[in-house]
Amino acid sequence: MTHAPTRFPDGFLWGASTAAHQIEGNNTNSDWWVKEHSADSTIEEPSLDACDSYHRWDQDMDLLAELGFTDYRFSIEWARIEPAQGHFSRAELAHYRRMVDGAVARGLRPMVTLHHFTVPQWFEERGGWVADGAVELFTRYAEATATVIAEDVPYVCTINEPNMIAVMAGAAKAGNIGFPPAGLPTPDKETTLAVIAAHHAAVKAVKGINPDIRVGWTVANQVYQALPGAEDATAAYRRPREDVFIEAARGDDWIGVQSYTRTRIGAQGPIPAPEDAERTLTQWEYYPAAIGYALRHTAELVGDVPLIVTENGIATADDTRRVDYYTGALSAVAAALDDAINVDGYLAWSALDNYEWGSFQPTFGLIAVDPQTFERTAKPSAVWLGGLGRTRELPRIAA
Ligand code: BGC
Repeated sequence: MTHAPTRFPDGFLWGASTAAHQIEGNNTNSDWWVKEHSADSTIEEPSLDACDSYHRWDQDMDLLAELGFTDYRFSIEWARIEPAQGHFSRAELAHYRRMVDGAVARGLRPMVTLHHFTVPQWFEERGGWVADGAVELFTRYAEATATVIAEDVPYVCTINEPNMIAVMAGAAKAGNIGFPPAGLPTPDKETTLAVIAAHHAAVKAVKGINPDIRVGWTVANQVYQALPGAEDATAAYRRPREDVFIEAARGDDWIGVQSYTRTRIGAQGPIPAPEDAERTLTQWEYYPAAIGYALRHTAELVGDVPLIVTENGIATADDTRRVDYYTGALSAVAAALDDAINVDGYLAWSALDNYEWGSFQPTFGLIAVDPQTFERTAKPSAVWLGGLGRTRELPRIAA
């Protein structure tokens, strides 16, 4: 049978997300840029001009608004705002303020992420998150963003995917052995504690700027599914990689749920996707139902904190698979809403084909970007997904 469509609740966020380093281009003062260009770099290709969104953010916003979206999540770049420790750039702060004004002028509610994976190179050089004073430095940066976020910014995300930051730090400590064929490396405990402390301090800093800003953070959810008999092993595996970060959001104004695929866990640990599973360009199993599981697991742990899907999508060169993926994912969101799970919005990843942390090949975008001219072209999936913002209906697939 086919369900009747579920209507968006009032005020439901409907948008797409991006991150500064992945779209702006020439983020030369960041740790990632330095890693991309170091002699012993294992990174496939550097970000270079990326999508040139530093100069073309207005085109990005024009398109999103025209497509029917009402919300835009973007990040502001610490490495630009504080290019040298203690020196804050008024020009860069003004740049990001123009973006906030530009969003509002187009009818897009801005959700501003303060930190999306990249840090200033000077912060990295002094030891990153685990160095003395790191939390205070992040808090001071958060306070310094006042001119950007004090007005017209209803949502601020302090730190994107803190659990992935801890996982990457764990992998680095283990000698950068890379990711296992299934599952994630063990997160670094010290980094976990530091980013949780940084989040709590930054929430206070942002509330100090304007108590009406709704502050949260966004957690990567891998949808760990236990094979029969592996329930305890799965819970133990998931806890340091996910649950501690979700629990740290209790008391926040919202929590961001980000999910793409699932990971199955057997008695010996994570197991790769079945041979015959459809895989996306990131080699992840094609699994649109993931977001439904992610929402339900997060809701169980976080208490009555509202959930917002802040990233969800697929890397594919076949845009019809993207529509199919989003149809399945939105059906799972609709089912969660029907079950009275408190979901306040849905932001797709990603607005643009962008720099996927080492390569431009995995295309997650709703909008294609010509690598030579930077010309933007909305894909059919963007027209369809944006258009749902006008009908205010979430699609439901046959059950
Ligand atoms: C990150 C994005 C990334 C996406 C797809 C999330 O982990 O927040 O920056 O591009 O997933 O890998």
